[in-house]
Amino acid sequence: MAHDYSYKAVMARDNEIMKKALGMDYEKYESGNIAFDYEALMNDVGLSLEEIIQIQRSVGVGNTPLLELKNLTALARKISPKGKGARIFVKDEQCNPSGSFKDRRASISAYMAQKLGYKGIAAATSGNYGAAVASQAAMRNLPCIIVQECFDSRKIGQPEILEKQRKCESYGAEVVQLTVGPELFYTYLRILEDTGYFNASLYSNFGIAGVETLGYEIIQQCRSMVGRDPDVIMVTNAGGGNLTGTARGAQKAGAEKTLIFGASVDLAGLSMASDHDFNRKSFTTGHTGFGMPYATDPDHSDVPRSAARPLKYIDDYLLVKQGEVFYITEALAQLEGMERGPAGNTSLTAAFALAQTLDEDQIIVVQETEYTGAGKSPQPQLSFAKENGIELKFGNSDEEVPGKNIILPDHPSRIKVRHADLDKMKKSYIRKAAQHVHATTATEEDIHYLMAETRKDREFVIAALKENNIEIKQPILN
Ligand SMILES: Cc1ncc(COP(=O)(O)O)c(C=O)c1O
Repeated sequence: MAHDYSYKAVMARDNEIMKKALGMDYEKYESGNIAFDYEALMNDVGLSLEEIIQIQRSVGVGNTPLLELKNLTALARKISPKGKGARIFVKDEQCNPSGSFKDRRASISAYMAQKLGYKGIAAATSGNYGAAVASQAAMRNLPCIIVQECFDSRKIGQPEILEKQRKCESYGAEVVQLTVGPELFYTYLRILEDTGYFNASLYSNFGIAGVETLGYEIIQQCRSMVGRDPDVIMVTNAGGGNLTGTARGAQKAGAEKTLIFGASVDLAGLSMASDHDFNRKSFTTGHTGFGMPYATDPDHSDVPRSAARPLKYIDDYLLVKQGEVFYITEALAQLEGMERGPAGNTSLTAAFALAQTLDEDQIIVVQETEYTGAGKSPQPQLSFAKENGIELKFGNSDEEVPGKNIILPDHPSRIKVRHADLDKMKKSYIRKAAQHVHATTATEEDIHYLMAETRKDREFVIAALKENNIEIKQPILN
């Protein structure tokens, strides 16, 4: 029988399509209520960390340098109280084949696609991940389709996303470009169904396992360079896979005391699904427009259960302003001679602020850089912002209002530590986890699961469940 390609019918087939496109059945991880078996999902990648390292080395991924940013550290010390100004290091992930840590993620998906005998590989992403999948597909001689959400309804696209189209095409991928809206998922499902290609989802267990090598390398390199583990690893956070994989890798290297901090550009007030807001932001990833919804509701992605679960690993979440990241991008280029892209510089900005509050002998590792290019640099981004009615000025970063202005700090001391409210996010996570499975009750297993997911105690979890009218089932005592 011919398939029904109406929006409703295709969306109703999404589980079936995804099952074929990933070669995985997520049902077996489900408990029937809120809890699911995350570690079993990760174990089913079926590759040890050593094997993942081998796969990555065979395609030129990983083993990137860890560099100390002495001049930026000196600047932070100049504006810090006496004795403060932690040492800042950076992992130069732009050295990966397509220029970002996303190659680590894509390398394992492309390996699996080939191993499982898929005819090609596809991904829905308008960011670096598309280029990473296209590059890894090229290395394995697999046809590749990248679906991008890149225009508003005026057909105007962000310079960074348009640049990404050219990059994906230069690796030989076919790029499907869409306007902002719900058609992205529909189109992606149709492509997977029509082609039978592997879904290189950003949120699969393969992708996240691929990022573990990044956390692992940071710990090994830090130990050999300075003889100890870093105090903080600062990770740019959007969908949460970067943070999850890095934290898991650091744990596997035995880093027990290293704190994992997330950092995102504060885009509060802008809606990512809005046609009006789409081109009013200067950052296409590493911002709260992804960071907040994906942390609090990880399972709304293109797989039934996301392997990216940042609230399980995050110790603190810092927010930075758009203007601050532009400032630090220039500072990195002019003080350290490293011209790098915006996503990595988001965590660098947060690290620059945090360094001023930590002791001089403490160590912060900024977990990545990314390549930069014609669409990513401050110049095209700021011109684009101006064309879209954003006011540009120098001044006090605290006065920046996303979608209205970009304030370039008039002094580096404007770059300050600002915390997101993690407890609020964790409460929101618990509410959405229950909603996700339409739960009206929570079992003992659910409570333990939610405690592990949020790293909060029993009282916190039970209070959050009760606030949402979820009945707590008492364990049956014999
Ligand atoms: C260079 C770079 N850094 C960080 C991120 C954020 O990663 P995640 O979405 O896994 O949180 C992205 C994702 O788009 C990225 O491309």
